Amino acid sequence: MRAKITGTGFDVPKKVITNSDLEKMVDTSDEWITARTGIKSRYIASEGEFTSTFATRAAEKALSSAGVSAEEVDMLIVATVTPDFPFPSTACIVQNNLKALKATAFDISAACTGFLYALSIADKFIRTGSIQKALIIGAEVLSRVVDWTDRNTCCLFGDGAGAVLLESSDNDCGIMSAHIHSDGSYWQLLHQPGVGNRNPASPKVIEERLAFINMQGNEVFKLAVRGMEEAALEALSSNNLSTDDIDLFIPHQANRRIIDAIGKRLGLNEAQLFVNLENYGNTSSASIPIALDEVKRGGRIKEGDILLLDAFGAGLTWGAVLVRW
Ligand code: ACO
Repeated sequence: MRAKITGTGFDVPKKVITNSDLEKMVDTSDEWITARTGIKSRYIASEGEFTSTFATRAAEKALSSAGVSAEEVDMLIVATVTPDFPFPSTACIVQNNLKALKATAFDISAACTGFLYALSIADKFIRTGSIQKALIIGAEVLSRVVDWTDRNTCCLFGDGAGAVLLESSDNDCGIMSAHIHSDGSYWQLLHQPGVGNRNPASPKVIEERLAFINMQGNEVFKLAVRGMEEAALEALSSNNLSTDDIDLFIPHQANRRIIDAIGKRLGLNEAQLFVNLENYGNTSSASIPIALDEVKRGGRIKEGDILLLDAFGAGLTWGAVLVRW
């Protein structure tokens, strides 16, 4: 029994912020952002749009592409670090929007690796026969935790959601193996200091700008390359495969230079590498499911292809999932 991806979908806000828009907001340039990150523009939520807004739309598209109704879903997981509320979970809000009333709904917090964590969990439930259908969503509105006066971080992130439907399948297509890891000793490298219970809502949180992303970019960069390479090799070796067997490598879309460095270390050629971050920026947990929908609709993958999904994020967390499409 395998968990097969039978539907994909994504949704992003209408509003776009380009690098030249950012030039008017902070001391930066299109040239710097493009050279250091590869990002050219990002989608940003407007007032009245929330993580659940994009998550719901992405989920509806994934269900429709699989030809499955919301009432049939057994499990609904939202991977996010920007939930609508601390509680209830964004998954419960999406469940209500979709009327997926049978589903067990919960959120996963593993930052940019969140989607792979969620895939890994649902895969186990499907493999053991406990459930048949799981809706996995990566969704973020990072623009509300970005300090728009901090040039070190404001050019990096974007908003949006991607979703996949996983269904139990008897043939050998689907998730071949999932490998997820974490190392909490690095938690301070990338975190949002407020508004949890260490720094609850207060004038201090506003004055000291604690509700925004705090990141040591250089350190994260190095650890991201190392962690993603390790996870990719682990996934390949546990399936007795080599990098030549990969039809498409879909890494978390954080920075073009991180992706190129991993591609080089793994010995991948340009045709094996999927990159779309120029249009979206880093959408954290949404980046891989957005990519999956793009490659599926763009005809870039066919049945039987081997896809390697690879991610890294705050926690620190990292992981890889190998899929036979
Ligand atoms: N425009 C112009 N100059 C800038 C900007 C900007 N937007 N941002 C930083 N700079 C300046 C810095 O102030 C610094 O100036 P200084 O030398 O006078 O102090 C200089 O550029 C170099 O800064 P670095 O931080 O060394 O630049 P680096 O090449 O490391 O690039 C970046 C920074 C893009 C953040 C990179 O470290 C990175 O991408 N790290 C990974 C972080 C990441 O992607 N995190 C997302 C979550 S984790 C994940 O998804 C993998």
